Amino acid sequence: MSTAQTASDDPDLCECTPEVSVHASESLPTVNAAVSLDQLPADLRAFLETMDQFDQPIPIKDLQIAMQKLTFSVDDVREFAEFCSTSYQRNLIHTGPQYQALLICWKSGQRSTIHDHRGSACGVRIVDGSLMETVYEMTPDGHVYPTMSHEASKGYVCASLDMDIHQISNLQPEGNDLVTLHVYSPPMREFGAYSNLHSGTEVIDATP
Ligand SMILES: [Fe+2]
Repeated sequence: MSTAQTASDDPDLCECTPEVSVHASESLPTVNAAVSLDQLPADLRAFLETMDQFDQPIPIKDLQIAMQKLTFSVDDVREFAEFCSTSYQRNLIHTGPQYQALLICWKSGQRSTIHDHRGSACGVRIVDGSLMETVYEMTPDGHVYPTMSHEASKGYVCASLDMDIHQISNLQPEGNDLVTLHVYSPPMREFGAYSNLHSGTEVIDATP
């Protein structure tokens, strides 16, 4: 895809103007409405119905194991996989008593902030494409620094604890999309955003 392409040129690209930075006055990219479970592929629907049974935050190991068993493809959820031309796009799939599930779509070159999940554990499954995750640590004075980056591809599942600090990026060549399923338990209400340009944390509202 050409870098000159606009949202109006591509029906998969939304017209939103999300902002991604570490400033508290800014917000997460637009989140689309949850969809009916009946519209989802059978194994994803069964997974969500199982997660709906939890009346306490889902243990991260249970979440990781269940996400590893998923088999649906990007074609099965393509109608919910909306992209944005200027930032990654969060698409809310379902909210249960103790979690929320989002399909996140990343065009080549799009990245998350450096962030934690502040009170929520997170499971991630790569539905399509490959991602780069960079893990950060913090000095006692609040400066973050990268300790490791790794690339992972379709089918990979990872889990993060609430205060783990990381950044997700689509660093694939132009035209290669990344689609990821994220499950946050309990539902993520806010997250901490960091910068490698200065110390400190901005707490950002993450409510869908
Ligand atoms: Fe994250």
